[in-house]
Amino acid sequence: MNLQRFQDETWCGKNRIHIDVNNMMRARLGERGIDEAELDQMQDQLFVAAEAMKKKRYSMAWRELPYMEQSIVEDIERTAAQINERFDAFVVLGIGGSALGAIAIQNALTHLRYNELPKSKRSRAKIYIEDNVDPERMAALLDVIDVKRTMFNVITKSGGTSETMAQFLIVLNLLHEELGDDFSSHLIATTDAVRGNLLALAKRYGLKTFYVPEGVGGRFSVLSPVGLLPAAVCGIDIRELLAGGMYMDKLCAADDVWENPAYLLAALQYIAMRRGMNISVMMPYADSLKYMADWYAQLWAESLGKRYDKNGQSVYTGQTPVKALGVTDQHSQAQLYTQGPFDKVVTLLCVENYRATVQIPQGVTGMDSVDFLGGHTLNELISVEQGAMAYALLKSERMNCSILLPQVNPFTIGQLFYLLEVETAFAGELLNIDAFDQPGVEEGKNSAYALLGRPGYEAKRAELERLPEKKDKYVL
Ligand code: PA5
Repeated sequence: MNLQRFQDETWCGKNRIHIDVNNMMRARLGERGIDEAELDQMQDQLFVAAEAMKKKRYSMAWRELPYMEQSIVEDIERTAAQINERFDAFVVLGIGGSALGAIAIQNALTHLRYNELPKSKRSRAKIYIEDNVDPERMAALLDVIDVKRTMFNVITKSGGTSETMAQFLIVLNLLHEELGDDFSSHLIATTDAVRGNLLALAKRYGLKTFYVPEGVGGRFSVLSPVGLLPAAVCGIDIRELLAGGMYMDKLCAADDVWENPAYLLAALQYIAMRRGMNISVMMPYADSLKYMADWYAQLWAESLGKRYDKNGQSVYTGQTPVKALGVTDQHSQAQLYTQGPFDKVVTLLCVENYRATVQIPQGVTGMDSVDFLGGHTLNELISVEQGAMAYALLKSERMNCSILLPQVNPFTIGQLFYLLEVETAFAGELLNIDAFDQPGVEEGKNSAYALLGRPGYEAKRAELERLPEKKDKYVL
């Protein structure tokens, strides 16, 4: 039997992701850096947080996702193969945590022009992840797909989100018109196993259904069928992705921050927050990781942005996540990051070995001040730029750290998701807030239900109608 590469310890060791927090620390950053003594002074708090993480391990069901039953993995792989045999396009309908993970995986791990590849080079369905209800976007999608040759994966954990259910109604109706009774073979539901409107409708129509396990919230669901089915349809090795999650779980097993990368990142961000660093910038130096920053933005913002702590006291915590792209944003946002207010921590996502090498040709123009670039590679250039950015931040005394990926592959991406999830959960413990609820998001959802006339939301509608009238003079 052939072993898969992630079953080889040496390969795993070479593909382990590392964090480098040197540029957060006083030893390198100077006065504005964090002294190790500050972490020592937090020993009790760190201990309590680590104990809470252990105690809650089994209620944080997302921590067990990498270890999911083989039968579910096989079902996802089989379903993906059937989709690719029969369909030209695979469309995900979902929003927030029901879309961002799939977007991040697909962009990280497929060809950067996946949908544009000729069928002979792609040999799989095109993928569209529709995480908005802009009518122009829906109209544009329907212009480019043939619904008779398309599989739709409706993903909503709650089974009721207005945006996703509206998309579902549009597609259901269209499929009915085009295909009659065969419509249900073009729909897959991914939702909660016990409750919700999508579950009820999936049962009524006999839809193939995957489940989001109990205790797994949207933004922590990427390693469940929510992220795995779209990944498998794109030909991504989902077993390797899960193996990456398992590997990072082991690396994050220690209670001591100096032996646990997720805890160390969280503790340093926590200290930075206490010092007024209210903004967390994630800056990947790889186009393939651009949407990891989007996924992380939701995870960090929705988990830590809380009014109340666990004792019901108003604390108004959180750190605003900002997405940037290296090198592109060195030519726009870097000015602010290096010379603006001292309110940011920048996390660089660095890649050691890119999956392509591009040479810059030598002696093309005869001008020394241009031709010096010749003979180098774009790989060298992007790495130099990333080092230059870290240096510019350091020189201007801005806290920054790096997460180093030996390569972008399913194993490293699985590790990265898991690392950032544990970091977020541990930061939630340090802040003494519930990192797993989202009352602010629910407020928006409920207001939308009320405004659209959903039965049962009359009181919410009345509340909205009690708002003071707008003044014309404020609208110019
Ligand atoms: O993380 C979350 O809980 C949210 O962002 C949800 O994922 C988002 O609101 C979509 O919810 P649902 O999956 O229930 O449609």
